[in-house]
Amino acid sequence: MSFEDRLAATSWEIGIAIAAVLAQLPDSKIKDAMAHATHGGKRLRGFLVIESAGLFDVPRDVTVQAAVAMECMHAYSLVHDDLPSMDDDDLRRGQPTVHVKWDDATAILAGDALQSLAFEVLGGLAVSGDVRAALVLSLARASGASGMVLGQANDIAAETAGRQLSLDEITTLQANKTGALIRWSVEAGAILGKADPAPLTAYAAALGLAFQIADDLLDVTGDEAQTGKRVGKDANAGKATFVDHLGVDVARARAEELMREAVAALVGFDGRADQLRDAARFVVRRRF
Ligand code: IPE
Ligand code: IPE
Ligand code: MG
Ligand code: MG
Ligand code: MG
Repeated sequence: MSFEDRLAATSWEIGIAIAAVLAQLPDSKIKDAMAHATHGGKRLRGFLVIESAGLFDVPRDVTVQAAVAMECMHAYSLVHDDLPSMDDDDLRRGQPTVHVKWDDATAILAGDALQSLAFEVLGGLAVSGDVRAALVLSLARASGASGMVLGQANDIAAETAGRQLSLDEITTLQANKTGALIRWSVEAGAILGKADPAPLTAYAAALGLAFQIADDLLDVTGDEAQTGKRVGKDANAGKATFVDHLGVDVARARAEELMREAVAALVGFDGRADQLRDAARFVVRRRF
């Protein structure tokens, strides 16, 4: 099976589990918007949760639930990222964004509810109390004002900063904005397996940065039909990206270098880490 096929199969499995979780909610416009927001996408973060847990022999049903939590958190971040007061995007995963299909209030509330749902799902995991607490605590840190939200705030602030950010500043911004949730996805498997997540940290950090560089490259060189979102917007918005700072060719070379760093960081793991190695290769070569 190719990496893309394995990712698609896992995405399908996560999608069924997301639908089952959403089915427990009372019917409402917010529930419909949550279903819309969690539909489609690569589900790479959920895949990373499942494959990292696969290194530590964690039961599949538990890891799929942790992947659901991650994908709800990620979907919330996208719904809010697309709002007019943030990136003002009308297309996501080939569909109208939530605030376009419904309205801003629905998008804000559906995002809020997806975030709550992520913690509800983790809170209900069939694992020991200390593992559950560690997952909830680490996801709260990764998603909040020391992680994703901080990165998003700095991303927006950079648009009007009146100066180009340094490479170090962009690296820190991206490590929070995109890196934090990717890092949690990779480390969650170790937490579930009661193992030390530290050996996966270098992999996750390189992967997260490579992922965002690839995203920034797709904004310049990508195709709307393939990415399912508008392209060519970051430069006009004054986004602080690696591509803006380094140019397309150097940014692409940096992403490739990070991919090799990510693969090298898995040297201590056996063949069970091959999917994580392939994920690093996929992240920099993807067209969507
Ligand atoms: C897009 O993430 C947002 C970023 C952090 C760059 P993905 O490229 O993983 O989006 P989906 O989930 O596949 O739609
Ligand atoms: C979004 O980054 C990151 C988060 C939602 C945390 P981008 O703004 O670059 O993502 P896209 O390009 O809209 O998917
Ligand atoms: Mg953004
Ligand atoms: Mg955006
Ligand atoms: Mg982008």
